[in-house]
Amino acid sequence: MEESKKVLYSAVQPTNNLTIGNYIGAIRNFLALQNDYNCYFAIANMHAITVRQTPAELRQRTLSLLALYLACGLNPEQTAIYVQSHVPAHAELCWVLNTFTYVGEMERMTQFKDKSLRHAENINMGLMDYPVLMAADILLYQTEVVPVGLDQRQHLEIARDIAQRFNNIYSPTFKVPEGLYVKVGAKINDLQDPSKKMSKSAENPNGSVFLSDDKDTVIRKFKRAVTDSGSEIKFDPENKAGVSNLLSIYTAFTGKTVEQAERDFAGIGYGDFKLAVGEAVADKLAPIQKEQAKLLTDKTYLDNVLRSGAERAAKAANKTLSKVYKKIGFYQL
Ligand code: TRP
Repeated sequence: MEESKKVLYSAVQPTNNLTIGNYIGAIRNFLALQNDYNCYFAIANMHAITVRQTPAELRQRTLSLLALYLACGLNPEQTAIYVQSHVPAHAELCWVLNTFTYVGEMERMTQFKDKSLRHAENINMGLMDYPVLMAADILLYQTEVVPVGLDQRQHLEIARDIAQRFNNIYSPTFKVPEGLYVKVGAKINDLQDPSKKMSKSAENPNGSVFLSDDKDTVIRKFKRAVTDSGSEIKFDPENKAGVSNLLSIYTAFTGKTVEQAERDFAGIGYGDFKLAVGEAVADKLAPIQKEQAKLLTDKTYLDNVLRSGAERAAKAANKTLSKVYKKIGFYQL
């Protein structure tokens, strides 16, 4: 890891099944980034427990996500890949940052309000504190760049506010991170309702394609995808949301341009088009799934990756934490 590179931080929660939207929007981009930045990728299990989890599943999904990162080509020699709870500094900095964050700010967070509605029976303190923990994640590593989806933009803004607030009260302590909003022209929408983003928890399971779906399932879901009136295969998100979404998926998975794709499908019917998109996706997923399954049989290796990732992360994190403790007046031995 070269010191001269900027620090980039991201994390994914080991909760629901990831979709091809997560792959295109996040994981695939991590690969391109790992050469250019000094990267930390966390498995955010502490964020995950802000909604109730089944312990055995949480454990299993932690390893699955790690295996997926690796199967997609993240290189653990280059990038620190670790589990959030393995680095206690996250919880420790979160506590300090809590005292620099106002209740009113947290109450106004869009995601908190949404989740409070969806989990009305369990609006716990952790759910409200989620953005502060995320700020701690980011600020511990003197992060400069955070690739996030637009849904996380408000959380990143709060992290920046907290960093600036702390720096102003004491002296420069945290780097103030910037968001990296990857566009890639590929926002992937629901196959059943192309006006909505493809989500891990959509109402209609046929609308989302999961990275764990086998070939038959992938093909079946694409065959059922809604298209639009007319018969032309043309990229026109306003008037042809369904077809355009399928074209986006196709280009994202094949690396072709929209123009090339339109040419490939000129004069072809919707049925064959949907099948071709499904096959392109399934063909891309197959080797990743195979590698992921293989990795999951080698627990010793996975544990070693996590051990060395946590060690590397803790070293960087503890440096920042100790600065913070000094500045706020914690007596140090
Ligand atoms: N909240 C993020 C999500 O659900 C996951 C996350 C946790 C994260 N900590 C982070 C993302 C720090 C970026 C940086 O997508």
